Formats: sequence, structure tokens, C-alpha cells
Amino acid sequence: MPATGLTRRRFLGAGAAALSAAAWSRASGANGKLRLASVGVGGKGWSDLTGVAASPHVAVAALCDLDGRDPHMGRAATKFPAAKRFTDWRKLLDQPKEFDAVTVSTPDHMHAPVALPAMALGKHVFCQKPLTHTVHEARQLRLAAKTSGVVTQMGNQIQSHEAYRTATKLVRGGVIGKVREVHSWQAGGMRWLTVDDRPAGADPVPDTLRGWDEWLGVAPARPFKEKIYHDWNWRAWQDFSNGQLGDFGCHILDPVFTALGLAAPLTVRGESSPLNREVWYKWSVVSYEFPGTPLTAGKTLPLTWYDGDGKLPPRDRLGLAEGVKLPGAGSLFVGEKGSLLLPHVGMPRLLPDEAFKEVKVEKVPSVDHYVSWADACRGEGKTTSHFDYAGPLTEAVLLGTVAIRVPGETLKWDAAALKVTNSAKADGLLRKPYRKGWEPAWVG
Ligand SMILES: NC(=O)c1ccc[n+]([C@@H]2O[C@H](COP(=O)([O-])OP(=O)(O)OC[C@H]3O[C@@H](n4cnc5c(N)ncnc54)[C@H](O)[C@@H]3O)[C@@H](O)[C@H]2O)c1
Repeated sequence: MPATGLTRRRFLGAGAAALSAAAWSRASGANGKLRLASVGVGGKGWSDLTGVAASPHVAVAALCDLDGRDPHMGRAATKFPAAKRFTDWRKLLDQPKEFDAVTVSTPDHMHAPVALPAMALGKHVFCQKPLTHTVHEARQLRLAAKTSGVVTQMGNQIQSHEAYRTATKLVRGGVIGKVREVHSWQAGGMRWLTVDDRPAGADPVPDTLRGWDEWLGVAPARPFKEKIYHDWNWRAWQDFSNGQLGDFGCHILDPVFTALGLAAPLTVRGESSPLNREVWYKWSVVSYEFPGTPLTAGKTLPLTWYDGDGKLPPRDRLGLAEGVKLPGAGSLFVGEKGSLLLPHVGMPRLLPDEAFKEVKVEKVPSVDHYVSWADACRGEGKTTSHFDYAGPLTEAVLLGTVAIRVPGETLKWDAAALKVTNSAKADGLLRKPYRKGWEPAWVG
């Protein structure tokens, strides 16, 4: 099916403008409900939809999913029978008077293509992590949010959990002193990495999946194969996902960014298990160097990411006592006065235990990551993972996936120019080609 003018239309070209949260609140009055449309309602989309709908001030107006089965559209339609149903997000966006705000919970490659025109229509956007599939798209979503003035939130919900909120407060309060280096990891296996290369042949598209071409969207076309792409297993593929770093980086690096006030790295260097053009790696190590901030010890801050089967930071670099067990995923902030170990997702531990036994850690209570977005859309409060924050975080995470594809090169990053200045190959990987007819409308 050809793309509608929505994808090709210039950003804000239709003259749509965001009704600012404050204006929306005034226009709708105290009893007005935020009308929610959800794109992708199975998998994580289910918790996004139900999380936002938990607000008494939200009415679910529209559901969009390509899969009619029970854990996808079927389940959502049963719970929200009054909502209009769509299989094609472009048809949903063709009816902008029906809704005020959108959750985007599709596989990564379709985040930007859906979120950009939604923002151009003045719709508030909650978009899953990682915010986008390329570094350039992350910059675009940040610009689009600024240009349109809509309320945004990335779906890294653990940012709002008491564990991460408590840890970031501790680091910011200086309990471990200025931070010298950070190690972050996700050593878990990637159970979606079931193949090494693109399988031959095709399977019939099930009747319940209304449009394999629409599922592919902006990505290069290929035949449908059962259990290889849809659902969940798309994570294995470079054309649809960002691998383990993309999957967990926006969660696990988030408290590091928030606590230390990081934004763009100066350099990034990656290595991984052998990589072909199609599927992601089995393990990776990515070394970043960030400009120092008032909370870091040196002029620059080294941050190293480790992932894949059993990959943990090397113990001899951590200065931890033998009995301290590292969690399967998390971060270690190494400070001048001690370290903070932050499991993903668990309460922080100050190390060495003996040195901090007198410190009383006060928990910072969780906030509701979903309802706080809905509230902000209605003019009440602000979001914390808005795209002005989540854009740069995602850019840094995805720069790591660029570096992995140019192994062993220390890439120099010019954030202002959106450019890798010393590698044309890496610079080319900041963007990707789009399938004809599916090119997004860029800002500027
Ligand atoms: N924040 C978290 O903790 C967390 C956890 C899991 C997944 N995620 C993110 O959520 C997103 C979805 O991941 P998932 O595991 O739920 O994937 P999934 O494949 O299990 O589910 C995706 C859902 O979107 C639907 N869908 C796919 N393409 C669509 C399209 N073009 N239009 C409408 N519907 C479409 C599918 O039918 C399915 O219902 C990803 O970006 C992922 O990174 C975040």
C-alpha cells in the first residue's frame, strides 16, 4: 500500500500547531479528558496503553495494531471496546480531531516515522525507548518536540522508580565524592538472537496480521517468516532494532546521565563479537569519553558499557572487595570517596559497606511515568524524560551501535554539527536509507 501524504508532508506543512498543555487545559476545562490513541498495543504497548489509561483524566479514543490476535489488538479492544480501531497508523493520523495524544510502542524502526507526523499534527507523544532507530532520527524527534511544543516522554519508565531516583539523588548529593569513572552493563543473554543471517524462503502471512508490508514500513522489504521478526524477535535485526545496547542503554545509562548531567560524548569506541549486515552481535564493549561536569573528578569522564552473554566489567578495574557480587545488569559509579553500585532495577548500595555504614539512605518515592505524562499533557506538572533529555541520551546510546560497526576506531563526535568528524563510514551510519514512499518528513 502506498504511503499517504502524511509521511511525505513537510513537518508542520499542514499548518497544524500544538495546542500547548496549558491551552489544552483551558480549552477542555476541568472535566475534559485527554483522548489517547495508542499505536502498537501488544507487548510493551499494552503496559503503555494501560499505564496511561490508569489516569482518571484519560479516555482511550483509538487503538492501532497490525495484529488482530488476543495479546495484541484483541486484548486491547476487549478492554477498551469504545475505542476506534485502526490497523494502519497513517489512517489514524488522518483523523486528528479524534485524539489529543499518542503512545508509540511499535518496534524501534517505526518510532520516528509515527512520532514525527504525530507531533506535526500537534499531538503529545509518549514514545518507547530507544527513542529512535538512528542518531539522526533522535535529533529529529528532539527538534520536532521543540518546534511543535507538544508534551513528550520516552518510555524508560525505570527513571521514575524509587531505585533510580534514590541513586541519582545520592550521586548528586556528593556522597561518593566526584565521580572518576562509570561502568554499566547488561550481561543477560539475548534470547531473541535465534539466527545468524537472513533465512531463505517465505511463510504465509497469517490472516490475523493485517499487512506485512505495513509492519516493515520504512525498512527494506523481505518475505514474512514465522517467529523470525514479528513479534518480539525483530530485536535480532539491524534493520528493525539496535541490539542489546539499544534495548537496555536508555534504561541503564539513564541514571548515569541524570545523576551526572551528561549529554553528548566527545569520543566513542566499540568492539563486539563478529557482525554481519543483518543481525546484531552476541556481546559488545563500548567506551565513551564525556566532557566533565561539576560532579565528575576529571576534565573528562570515562564510561564503559558491556553487554552480552555473561559480559561483566573486569573486576580488577573496579576496586571492589571480593565479596561484592555484581548484579546481572546495572552500573557502578566510582567516586573519589567510594562507589555506588546500582542494580537494574534495585536499590543502590554504597561501597565499601564499612565506610558508609553511618549513612542513612532516604528513599526517593517513585512517580508514575505514564500518568505524569498524561498530567503534563493536561497542563499539570512536567515530564522528566521529555525529548530534550531523551533525544541526547538516545543519540549517545545509538552512537555506541555506530561504533560497534566500525570496530576499534575511536570516533570523534561533534554533537552540534551531528557529525562523526574522523570516519566517513561511521558518519554515514548516523542515518539510513528509507523504503521508497515511506520517507519521513524531516524538521528543518
Ligand atoms: N520500556 C521497556 O521496559 C520496554 C520493554 C519492552 C519493549 N520496549 C520497547 O517497546 C517497543 C515494542 O517492543 P515489544 O517488545 O512490545 O515488541 P512486540 O513485537 O512484542 O510488540 C509490538 C506491538 O506493536 C504492533 N505493531 C508492530 N508494528 C506496527 C505498526 N506498524 N503499526 C501498528 N502496530 C504495530 C505489534 O503487532 C505488537 O502488538 C520497542 O521499541 C521496545 O524497545 C520497552
